[in-house]
Amino acid sequence: MAERSNWGSKIGFILAASGSAIGLGNLWRFPYTAGNNGGGAFLFCYLLSVIVIALPVLIAELSLGRFTQRNPVGAYQAIRDSWLWKGVGYLGVVSGLMILSFYSVVAGWTVGYFAKAVSGHFSGITPEKAAEQFGGFVANPWLQIVLLTIFIAMTVYIVAKGISGGIEKYSKLLMPMLFGILLLMLVRSLTLDGAGAGIKFYLTPDFSKITAGTIIAAMGQAFFSLSLGMGTMITYGSYLGKQEKIPSAAGWVAFLDTAVAVMAGFIVFPALFSQGINPADQGTGVMFNILPVLFDKMPLGFLFGPLFFVLLAIAALTSTISLLEVPVAYYIDQKGWGRKKAAYIIGAVSLLFAIPSALSQGPVPFLSKLPLINRDFLSLWDFIWGNLSLSIGAFMVAIFVGYIWKSKKAVAEIRISSGFNWAPLWEILIKFICPILILLILMGLFL
Ligand code: PHE
Repeated sequence: MAERSNWGSKIGFILAASGSAIGLGNLWRFPYTAGNNGGGAFLFCYLLSVIVIALPVLIAELSLGRFTQRNPVGAYQAIRDSWLWKGVGYLGVVSGLMILSFYSVVAGWTVGYFAKAVSGHFSGITPEKAAEQFGGFVANPWLQIVLLTIFIAMTVYIVAKGISGGIEKYSKLLMPMLFGILLLMLVRSLTLDGAGAGIKFYLTPDFSKITAGTIIAAMGQAFFSLSLGMGTMITYGSYLGKQEKIPSAAGWVAFLDTAVAVMAGFIVFPALFSQGINPADQGTGVMFNILPVLFDKMPLGFLFGPLFFVLLAIAALTSTISLLEVPVAYYIDQKGWGRKKAAYIIGAVSLLFAIPSALSQGPVPFLSKLPLINRDFLSLWDFIWGNLSLSIGAFMVAIFVGYIWKSKKAVAEIRISSGFNWAPLWEILIKFICPILILLILMGLFL
């Protein structure tokens, strides 16, 4: 077998893995989920979930990947060749394709809104007009398909170039841009008149608002945000050299991802409060429905509007490349395909799967309101693949690393290149605490 490609440097890996983690989940899903779940109270639960369950699972996925040097299917199979564990690997590969399909639709919106921001579509806009504009935008089927195709094409282009020459190279270029724009946005938002009320809402946890629902939402958000539960981090870990220190790399990725989510809150809440808008009433449309009105009103908004949508697009792109990489790695490792062929074909297939999501926001009434379940196709796909499948996958990886591969062996793999003083604590978390808490999330998804 050909030698496996590797990341060129530790910083390259950290930027690529945090690029996967940092995405629409941080900038779009986190603020509205926090807004709907009591602001500060949610933030508190979220930070706890990252430390107690997401970080241990991240370490488990990275060490499993580095040990086996395989995609998720190959990784499970290398240790336990059974239909059950191969099935868990396949679930990850399919989830990558399916999350890519609906995620690219929203990513396409960021490209469309960038164009709108640059071409002055927000000038003099009222909240009603903004909602109308968004409604018309998502209901235009050809426009949706074109934007989606542009996004998937960019993703395929980068993945086809390989690990160090594609994913790593572009992450090194895009991630510093992302951090730079984020800081600019942060300063702009915090210096708006009336920003203080937003900061207060965000930082004052009202513990009476913490319910089982808050905790479940926080845990689910932590998996999605750290790209866990479908083998993204197994796959990215498989390109790690034996000299890399897994605990410190995992710590960096979790830290950067969390820092960006927290910053997104510091951008969105002051901006909403400065306009007297209550974040608790906002839904998924918050970025596209409300922010254009703010950009039109705020000083230098003509500059920050386009910048903001570039920020979203970059964050989404470094995540979609990791989603595509999982099925691509599977076809390369298990089926012997070339990288280019795998990237093009799977990219095209994901485009086909994306069409129902792209048409579900208006043009096709059947898809916008599926019979029986009363929700649109995109949000159904988000629930099945972005929530349910990731939680199942994270549960299975904790069980696999804890009991089948055995946590002691994972610790030995980690210790090849670094100390791991926390090993006893990590073993308790991965064997007992994570599986139990994840089971609670899974039950919660159906309540
Ligand atoms: N972590 C990404 C985000 O926050 C989404 C993602 C999930 C990417 C699962 C890869 C795998 O937007």
